[in-house]
Amino acid sequence: MNKDIYILAIETSCDETSISIVKNGNEDIATVVLSQIDIHTEYGGVVPEIASRMHCENITIALERLLLNANFKIENIDAIAVTYAPGLLGSLLVGLEFAKTLCLVYNKPLIKVHHIASHIYANNLVNKIKFPILALVVSGGHTELILMNNDYDFQILGKTLDDAIGEVFDKVARVLDLPYPGGPNVEKYALNGKDTYELPKLMNNETLDFSYSGLKSAVINLIHKENVKGNPINKYDLSYSFQSSAVEQLERKTDQALTKYRVNQLIVAGGVSANQYLKEQLAIIANKHKIDFLVPPLKYCTDNATMVGAAAYPLFLKKDFAKFDLNALSKADLN
Ligand code: KG4
Ligand code: ZN
Repeated sequence: MNKDIYILAIETSCDETSISIVKNGNEDIATVVLSQIDIHTEYGGVVPEIASRMHCENITIALERLLLNANFKIENIDAIAVTYAPGLLGSLLVGLEFAKTLCLVYNKPLIKVHHIASHIYANNLVNKIKFPILALVVSGGHTELILMNNDYDFQILGKTLDDAIGEVFDKVARVLDLPYPGGPNVEKYALNGKDTYELPKLMNNETLDFSYSGLKSAVINLIHKENVKGNPINKYDLSYSFQSSAVEQLERKTDQALTKYRVNQLIVAGGVSANQYLKEQLAIIANKHKIDFLVPPLKYCTDNATMVGAAAYPLFLKKDFAKFDLNALSKADLN
């Protein structure tokens, strides 16, 4: 019988300090997430300098709490995994240096994990990924359709040519004066709205690329014009119209990709996959193509270290360990 593998995983790419112990890449033994949302809310968005300082304060607390909750000793860990890219550089560096130090002190191998790979592999924590799959990655920094025939074989079929979808949700929230965090609040307002505002449908072409700058400008211009006319904006309705337009593009491109490539599963990953309306629409598309639709539960959609442990597991099996001169990168390709 194979020995069970325990990976200690660390995630500090943005504003959550998270550490987790994951067994065999699919079992969450224990996870701690220390959110900084309250402090960043005061500024209306994540302040990178504050985020890295908070990671410094929180990371040892997170580890102590984790080991206590899990009743686990670091000596019994097989490897230490960390998000090295992409994200806020100062934040990534805190997690990376912490991981390297633990590896040196406890003599463990280091595994470097790409943040987007983590979001995709989060699905293994609930349902087994069965290749080939199509992954739609939707977050604050990414909007991509990725075909995977095997572990760590990422073929980017299409991506945004300008803004990422999460970024546009956040921008629309700001111009509508909705509280931070923007994306979830746009969704909340849309729940009580109707599709009354006419917004452009996007990128109506054969490529699998996305574009969101036109939709963003359309919302800003609409608000400006209504303000000039002295007409009040119905925030609920505009949230609804924006959300359906933004999601429609994801649906259409995913449908096109599934028509072109035969896969077993459609996976949606990244922070925006917390959006219920998006999940419902994608489930319809997957159903049309008669394939399974996987989406991680909410706690694994937003940034967390459990998904880092899941993504590190195939790398552990390949003994793909990182060197100690590994540096953090604010941007990096998946492959
Ligand atoms: O993956 P994530 O936590 O961080 C990045 O790696 O970017 O994604 C954060 C993004 C933010 O833009 C946030 O507004 C968006 O995901 N988001 C949502 C929802 N929850 C989070 N967007 C729309 N609807 C939601 N429910
Ligand atoms: Zn993320």
